[in-house]
Amino acid sequence: MYVCLCKGVTCSQIRERVRQGEAQSLRDLSQSLGVATQCGKCGRCARALIDEERESCSLDDPALQCA
Ligand code: FES
Repeated sequence: MYVCLCKGVTCSQIRERVRQGEAQSLRDLSQSLGVATQCGKCGRCARALIDEERESCSLDDPALQCA
């Protein structure tokens, strides 16, 4: 599902960035994928996805926690 229509960024892309430790904040996503850099309507959803993914990582094996 698309999260950011302006930049064509999907939910999967955001989750993958967080899992790989490449994005820990909306700012990181804005810099790497352009999320929330045009109309900004996706910012809240993108931030919620980051939080959700970081939380799910922390519930997994502690050795594999997100950075
Ligand atoms: Fe993401 Fe417009 S939907 S900047």
